[in-house]
Amino acid sequence: MSRGLDIGRTKYIFLGGKGGVGKTVLAGAVALESAQQGKTVLLASLNPVHSLSTLFMQNVSGGRFCKIEGVDGLTVVEVEISDLIERYRQNMEARLKEFFKWAEIPINPEPFIQIATTNPAFQESAMFDKVMDIMVNEGQNYDLVVFDTAAVANAVRLIGLSKLYGLWLARMIQSRKEAQEYRLRLSIRKEKVMEEIKKDPVVADLLNLYDKFAKTREAIVDPEKTRFYFVTTPESLPISVVKRFISMVQSFNIPVGGVFVNMVLDREDVASDPSGYLAAKLEEQRSYLSTIERDMGQYIRGYVRMYPTEIRGIKALYNITDDIRQYVPS
Ligand SMILES: Nc1ncnc2c1ncn2[C@@H]1O[C@H](COP(=O)(O)OP(=O)(O)OP(=O)(O)O)[C@@H](O)[C@H]1O
Ligand SMILES: [Mg+2]
Repeated sequence: MSRGLDIGRTKYIFLGGKGGVGKTVLAGAVALESAQQGKTVLLASLNPVHSLSTLFMQNVSGGRFCKIEGVDGLTVVEVEISDLIERYRQNMEARLKEFFKWAEIPINPEPFIQIATTNPAFQESAMFDKVMDIMVNEGQNYDLVVFDTAAVANAVRLIGLSKLYGLWLARMIQSRKEAQEYRLRLSIRKEKVMEEIKKDPVVADLLNLYDKFAKTREAIVDPEKTRFYFVTTPESLPISVVKRFISMVQSFNIPVGGVFVNMVLDREDVASDPSGYLAAKLEEQRSYLSTIERDMGQYIRGYVRMYPTEIRGIKALYNITDDIRQYVPS
């Protein structure tokens, strides 16, 4: 088992795992460790409820890119989700309407727009759109970008769907061009036609999307650039979630960076609990720890112990990075 972070020239890191297992804490620790190694790092949170201000005990809210005091090279941003979702909804609506018009489907598109923009995966898709934006734009200014986002599954799905989506977009762009060309030929000189088509906002929008999509996909499947890490606790459900993620990611040939096992009870803490509750918990954890070692031993990059209080501030995060490097469950 190789411990700790050995990320080489990796540029994008995603962390996945069940809710509440410590993804934000581990994302903070990974970002801190990399900044310590001399990299310029952006930690981007795209969760509906942000927690970076709490984690760093510094006000970093409001979509600003904030340098973390006391750590050279670490910038964090809590992306504003509500504006993002509204803009995404409008965009999606325009695209769908355009599609219905183009395909000459003579039905009211409203119910489809409703379904597309209110289903549970929509929010995640909107967030993933922003992930793509950061990868293609702001992310270029940093050596490493760590994403604290719920959209990991979307990243993986994107790769599966990309061929289909790419074909669909290419076809949309083509037909829009044809329609425009036809219309413009009647009104302006031939040599001006292409110029005008590029100005068409729908074509521009689709071309943009297509470009962003292709670039993201290329980066995500490049093992030199992207790594997916997973976080689990020694409990049944979090382990199942990570197992499922690993096989999903592997089926698209994205190399797994590794697994962090968080909230591991320490024997010393247990000994000082007179109620016996922790002793029972420890027994339970032991059995899950062997399951983790048996089923994903080769992926384990470190263990983090369970602390008596929430993880807050740089000092607490340094405890996490130390644990990742050297802590072995007793
Ligand atoms: N090793 C640990 N010891 C003690 N508390 C921890 C540890 N790891 C995480 N926590 C605490 O557990 C809570 C959940 O952690 P965190 O927010 O990182 O989880 P998450 O996976 O990002 O959750 P969500 O899915 O809601 O985004 C936080 O209050 C955090 O401080
Ligand atoms: Mg979180």
